[in-house]
Amino acid sequence: MTRPLILINFKLYKEAAGSKGLDLARKLSKVKKSKYEVAIAPSLLTTKEIADKVNIKVFSQHCSEVGLGAHTGRISAIELKKMGVKGVILNHSERKIPLKVLKKVVTSCKKLKLHTVICASTLSEVKKVAELKPTYIAYEPKELIGSDISVTDAKPKIIIKAVELVKRINKNTRVLCGAGIHCKEDIGQALLLGTTGVLIGHAVPKAKDPKKFLEKMLI
Ligand code: G3P
Repeated sequence: MTRPLILINFKLYKEAAGSKGLDLARKLSKVKKSKYEVAIAPSLLTTKEIADKVNIKVFSQHCSEVGLGAHTGRISAIELKKMGVKGVILNHSERKIPLKVLKKVVTSCKKLKLHTVICASTLSEVKKVAELKPTYIAYEPKELIGSDISVTDAKPKIIIKAVELVKRINKNTRVLCGAGIHCKEDIGQALLLGTTGVLIGHAVPKAKDPKKFLEKMLI
């Protein structure tokens, strides 16, 4: 994935849960997106159906460090891979993973060629998770998540520092930013600040016409 990544996290928004998730995924799969790579992270329980039925890259919102076996209630990278999932979001502010466990999850995902997007809410956390050499690190300041204050407006200097920091630690790891991203200017700014894409939450699922809204953001 060399084009800038636009990763839309459906979280458990009611507008994207259950059958609405499939509808939304179908709408977003029709978005004209020549310059960008668009991927979605549906709710965990709709992931398989969407990966089966919709022509769009699907990421999982979480993944556990375990393989197959006696692991009640866990999510295995092996099953995600078999489902056709292309990548995983890890350590989101709403689903933190201890660093020791995160290391194991990244190792198992790498073995299965699943892209890893590790979220970090501070520069010191960016530094720690960069050592794990994930595919992407998503800088998302917790206090801006869910707001309409874009991280690109509120924290441009931190984004630049995060990009520089990650480049120093592992030049193959790309940086995304997220929190409050809600218009094409936010995406333009994010790329200007050196990131290779964005993580978007509420703005797309909650839009009156999500397909049109996203198309406007990707012009
Ligand atoms: O994972 C993306 C997310 O946390 C950003 O949320 O709603 O501020 O775009 P939002």
